[in-house]
Amino acid sequence: TIPEYVKIVEVGPRDGLQNEKEIVPTSVKVELIKMLVSSGLPIVEATSFVSPKWVPQLADAKDVIKAIQSIGGARFPVLTPNLKGFEAAIAAGAKEVAIFAAASESFSRSNINCSIEDSLARYRDVALAARNLSIPVRGYISCVVGCPVEGAVPPTKVAYVAEELLNMGCSEISLGDTIGVGTPGTISPMLEAVMDVVPVEKLAVHFHDTYAQALSNILVSLQMGISTVDSSVSGLGGCPYAKGASGNVATEDVVYMLNGLGVKTNVDLRKLMLAGDFICKNLGRPSGSKVSIALCRI
Ligand code: HMG
Ligand code: MG
Repeated sequence: TIPEYVKIVEVGPRDGLQNEKEIVPTSVKVELIKMLVSSGLPIVEATSFVSPKWVPQLADAKDVIKAIQSIGGARFPVLTPNLKGFEAAIAAGAKEVAIFAAASESFSRSNINCSIEDSLARYRDVALAARNLSIPVRGYISCVVGCPVEGAVPPTKVAYVAEELLNMGCSEISLGDTIGVGTPGTISPMLEAVMDVVPVEKLAVHFHDTYAQALSNILVSLQMGISTVDSSVSGLGGCPYAKGASGNVATEDVVYMLNGLGVKTNVDLRKLMLAGDFICKNLGRPSGSKVSIALCRI
């Protein structure tokens, strides 16, 4: 059995745009977010309050958050790597944040310049500050099956980080196959290990589609009881600190599969495709969604 309703967390404006060569104008980001919300997506990860030296593409985080304050009907979490980012996010008007750890030591260092343990200590401070303000915190774990440097990542490591994030108060934990190397063969045992320590209702899956395994991996995750799925409109994205990683699974493709399974998402595929078309025209490239390409020909 699979869930009747799946909550899609749209990460295009953040994960999608953080890796773009050209810096996307703030007004385009804001219009994209508006279009995504009007397609019915309940959660749109809007931007990151990270160092502009590390991720110049999202240096306008404050302006983006200010500009979307008046948009109703969706939640807009933002990434915060430390207290400095958390405070800036709250000052700008963010009402939800996400912290991001890794299951691989090498990736932690290349992405956030510290060890896993140091990152967890930092995140405890963020989680505490968030709790004091009743701000929900989502926790990400990167490299849940594979790391660009270390190769295969053992499920026990993922379960360890997941339990730490749960204990510090994360309301949801998103498991990221950052470089998209997982298959149902590696995703299932990883999920089993994590589900031993985190209730399945609190888990989300976050697949990059580098090896075209994302939809298969989503399907096995649903079969294991997961009902929150991250995706990116038109399959935009990739982590700037994960060499060779391609975009997230395309939201259009996820919605098409869920429609076919009779699973509710409340997302209007046509309106979603308009958002995809808008951002692809702005970036000057074709859509990374096969569904979008196929339906445009009809
Ligand atoms: P650091 O250089 O070790 O930081 O970077 P630091 O504390 O030594 O500070 C150095 C400078 O950065 C200082 O400024 C700080 O003020 C500033 P200076 O004195 O040199 O002018 N700084 C900040 N500025 C703005 N906002 C902040 C902030 N913090 C410090 N929050 C740091 C450490 C974590 C900041 C850096 O490594 C960083 O920003 N990393 C972010 C990397 C990132 O955004 N990666 C992509 C997101 S993760 C992802 O994509 C994976 C995911 O999708 C899941 C998956 O696919 O697996 C979530
Ligand atoms: Mg990602």
